Amino acid sequence: MAMPARPLLVLAALLLPALLLSAASAADSKNNPADQLVALINSNRTASKASSLSDNQGLGCIALQYIKAYEGQCSDVRNKKPPETSFTEIFAPSCGVQVATLSKITGRLMGCQSKYPSPPEAFHILVNDAKDLQVLHSKNHTEIGAAVSGTDGGGPYFWCVLFSGGKPATSFKVDGEVPKTAMHPGCFSGNNDDCAGPTNGAVPISAGASRLVAALLFVVACAFAL
Ligand SMILES: *[C@@H]1O[C@H](CO)[C@@H](O)[C@H](O)[C@H]1NC(C)=O
Ligand SMILES: *[C@@H]1O[C@H](CO)[C@@H](O)[C@H](O)[C@H]1NC(C)=O
Repeated sequence: MAMPARPLLVLAALLLPALLLSAASAADSKNNPADQLVALINSNRTASKASSLSDNQGLGCIALQYIKAYEGQCSDVRNKKPPETSFTEIFAPSCGVQVATLSKITGRLMGCQSKYPSPPEAFHILVNDAKDLQVLHSKNHTEIGAAVSGTDGGGPYFWCVLFSGGKPATSFKVDGEVPKTAMHPGCFSGNNDDCAGPTNGAVPISAGASRLVAALLFVVACAFAL
């Protein structure tokens, strides 16, 4: 290697903490478009004297599996629904949600578009007629789960909001942690997790893990340079 060892060491000392720090901070950011949509829905509800809904991660994860059931078919969103049995047979098991804690779905809002709509844009796509507004403001709901996902790393982009009348503390209970396969691709509400957006997890190595790998490779390279 042409570069003398000393400047390389200085460079390593300067860059390594930055690389390690960025790997660590990637894990606990609160940036999540599905949570942002839930916040918009709750502020619209409270402005109309309806209750604020509890953001349930089990229901949010189910909303993401609900999107996956459409297999990227945007045109099916308005007139087709996954069969009821999907909740007990596919959605709950995929999410690690205890089937016995599934509660009644009291409403749903579903939208799809080729270009990614941000949470405020999604709100207007999901709530666009009197029937949607009735679902949005219904007194039958106590909890909510929202999700967004792209398709095969791109569009079309789906948003799904599921409402339930269950008791937030005891319904859609997750056993341990939500399985990684149920989280990707896309984002869902209520899990306090960083989520990069609708194509989140569409690539096999997460951004945090690849930064960590880069940092480790850098350490190895420096060790050889000595
Ligand atoms: C709630 O959303 C509806 C539908 O988009 C809209 O017409 C209404 O003005 C909103 N209410 C508030 C208080 O923002
Ligand atoms: C609330 O639930 C009742 C009883 O199931 C039903 O008749 C009514 O249509 C629901 N209201 C809305 C706005 O969905």
